[in-house]
Amino acid sequence: MALPALVLLALVAFAAALLWAPHAGRPAALHLILAVGAMPLIFGAMSHFIPVLTRTRIATSGLLGLPVLALAGGALAVGALSLPELFWGRHAGALLALAAASALLVWSRRRRAGMLGRPHPCLAWYDAALACLALALLAILASAIWPQQTIALYRLHLHLNTLGFVGLTAVSTLAVLLPTVAGRPDPQVGPRLRRDLPWALAGTLLAAVGSAWFGPLAWIGGALWAVPLLRLGASWLRLYRAEILALHGAAPLLAAALAGLALSMILGAVAPITVAPLTAAGWFRPTEPALAFVSGFMLPLVSGAASQLLPVWLRPGVQSSWHAKLRDSLGRYGGVRAALFCLGGIAAGTGHEWGLLLGAFTLIWFLLQAGGALLQAFVFQKRKWS
Ligand code: HEM
Ligand code: HEM
Repeated sequence: MALPALVLLALVAFAAALLWAPHAGRPAALHLILAVGAMPLIFGAMSHFIPVLTRTRIATSGLLGLPVLALAGGALAVGALSLPELFWGRHAGALLALAAASALLVWSRRRRAGMLGRPHPCLAWYDAALACLALALLAILASAIWPQQTIALYRLHLHLNTLGFVGLTAVSTLAVLLPTVAGRPDPQVGPRLRRDLPWALAGTLLAAVGSAWFGPLAWIGGALWAVPLLRLGASWLRLYRAEILALHGAAPLLAAALAGLALSMILGAVAPITVAPLTAAGWFRPTEPALAFVSGFMLPLVSGAASQLLPVWLRPGVQSSWHAKLRDSLGRYGGVRAALFCLGGIAAGTGHEWGLLLGAFTLIWFLLQAGGALLQAFVFQKRKWS
């Protein structure tokens, strides 16, 4: 039950943060989404998938300590970013989350060493993602030692986390998940993941270092990241167009997430250009890549993945009609939600606050629908058994 609880925590944190955002400072609201909601969920999901990728036994319940440690770090970060007197919490929070990330990375490497044969290529993406998170948290700790570099280190932190930790995890998971959702495997997924990791990882590192110290490097990084995104997007449109353009199901949400990630990268890459004279002259609103990232990418990603995975996570083992039925109810009108999340992401990313509200509304719709579906699934189960 740990994973469904982490999913619920993430979705509630997302909705709370979107509604709280106009009142709280922006870094605090963003961290409620990213560090309290997403980080522990990603840890939980990785500890579920890593044994599958390495064909080793499932994780023991002791490993649940890591998402909880990461959650404590994230909560401290939100506290520290909303209350000036808790400034020390930035570094303490980073230290806790760093301990959790390092432990999960060590565990993953041990599983890799203990397995027979080659692991699924997704594993290398997860390891790279965890390494990016660890570096991003070290950047926060380093800002205590080199305060004169604080702005550069914060930029390093934010790009390593969004493009690296969340981006690498999400793109590799999406590549594997969409064919499962569609029920038609794509034999190219493995080779493509293997080929694309160097592009995505080099893109992340160049964007992070470049945004901190030397702008032109960052754009080279953005161009490198475009390669895996375009390759994945093109193969999806070729193989899964019908599922992606459907009214129901998880596929439209997963595709919307990929589009939202691409959008936030485009906005991130043009932000430094649009900020200066044109926005001052009132031609453009300043772009908001972080808000596009949250409402155009994280919301469809987590709600889409939850529609597909909650049934398995609630009842692992043999898949029955119970799972299929619950998955259908969770995915009902997924296509409409995907379109609303896209619209919200574009609006929020181009500086319109209603985009966040539209995202929050669509997410609450999903939460209510999921509540109803779960209630029905468990009542249905009881009736069948009694
Ligand atoms: C416990 C862990 C974390 C700590 C202590 C932490 C700390 C910080 C700090 C101190 C800043 C600078 C805020 C400012 O401008 O005053 C920051 C910015 C940022 N961090 Fe984190 N962070 C953590 C985890 C994360 C995670 C997991 C993510 C993403 C997955 C993330 C994404 C960001 C982003 C996007 C910004 C820029 C915020 C903005 O534009 O306002 N952080 N973080
Ligand atoms: C891969 C594409 C990206 C490139 C090439 C890129 C490039 C850059 C550069 C060069 C800067 C420094 C701006 C300056 O000197 O004024 C910057 C800052 C920034 N980027 Fe990105 N970025 C990318 C993706 C993202 C994404 C996905 C996000 C959000 C999640 C993001 C959020 C930000 C923010 C909030 C700042 C301002 C940090 C500050 O306040 O100093 N960027 N980016």
